[in-house]
Amino acid sequence: MDLSSRNTFGMKVHCRLFVEITEESDLPELDFDSLPQPVFVMGGGSNLLFTGDFPGTVLHVAIDSFPAADGSRKLRLGAGVVFDDFCAWASAEDLWGPENLSLIPGEVGASAVQNIGAYGVEAKDIIETVHAWDRQERRFVDIPAADCGYGYRTSRFKTEWKGRFIITAVTFRLSRTPRPKLDYGGVRKALEARLAAFGTEISDDSLTPRAIRGTIIGIRRQKLPDPDEIGSAGSFFKNPVISKEHFEKIVATARQDNGPGYEVPHYEVGDEIKVPAAWMIEQCGFKGERLGGAQVYPQQPLVLVNATGRAVPEDVLALRDRIIRKIERKYGITLHCEVETV
Ligand code: EPU
Repeated sequence: MDLSSRNTFGMKVHCRLFVEITEESDLPELDFDSLPQPVFVMGGGSNLLFTGDFPGTVLHVAIDSFPAADGSRKLRLGAGVVFDDFCAWASAEDLWGPENLSLIPGEVGASAVQNIGAYGVEAKDIIETVHAWDRQERRFVDIPAADCGYGYRTSRFKTEWKGRFIITAVTFRLSRTPRPKLDYGGVRKALEARLAAFGTEISDDSLTPRAIRGTIIGIRRQKLPDPDEIGSAGSFFKNPVISKEHFEKIVATARQDNGPGYEVPHYEVGDEIKVPAAWMIEQCGFKGERLGGAQVYPQQPLVLVNATGRAVPEDVLALRDRIIRKIERKYGITLHCEVETV
């Protein structure tokens, strides 16, 4: 089966067998051992890079149950629901929770594996329970978010539980009480500008999930490639977290390069410092760099794109390696990929 339309990078690769699950009740019936091995479970295909044809089975959970609103603040969504459909729905219903996560590509199931995040909010902040088929115990389980080991773009589903659970649904917790998160990067400023265009400013009345969603969509459209036009898998690398001592060395290098008063962008994370990988990639001169059909996206260099539509996995991998090597040499940091290579 051709997977080109199943991965947002647009890699022209095949798998031996593609299985789609549309009902929870399909899972107990499925004999995993009889499928071509290995079995890979995918969501919307928006956070992965196929490095070639896949020799086994690709399984997609396409359960797209989206219950009608019943006035409760909890919502159980099928793993195959498009995550942004959930964001759009919540904002339209004036419910707080996922508005900062607007326009992130991918599906609900993957959001709980990857702990997707943007603009100061992560999926774990609104996930209550993850519902899954446990392949080991052969039963359905409900896993509270607190047990999922959530961290920056990670969870137990990616580490010690890898391959064990097939997520069928996720219950999210929403709120009628305003919970605006405006303090990440340029969100507040962009919201102010947006409201000013309507002749108003930030107030209890104007601050709605819908206004924030509109603002986030505006920011993302400016910086990130339009998935309908240019293939990519979003941020290709994670932002590294380093010690304060290491950060001081980076500041020294940056001031040699850019002048004495230069400020390196960073965020404090406990005792450590998170440095935007996008900044390092830019400093290494990679903005817009091309290799074959792959390119470092000029507006947000954390994103590698399939610029020609004809990039092959080797182009993306070679560009990845070139970036990693140069950043290692210059800053002594090894970037880790956010995108999963399969
Ligand atoms: N920056 C530069 N040069 C650039 C671009 C950015 O120096 O060309 C610096 C700026 O200082 C900027 C900082 O990098 O303030 C951070 O940039 P941005 O706010 O765009 O976010 P990011 O850290 O690069 C992360 C997520 C994105 C998410 C944004 C917004 C990761 C790996 N990526 O990127 O998530 O949308 O924050 O919250 O954590 C994704 O996961 O696919 C994704 C797009």
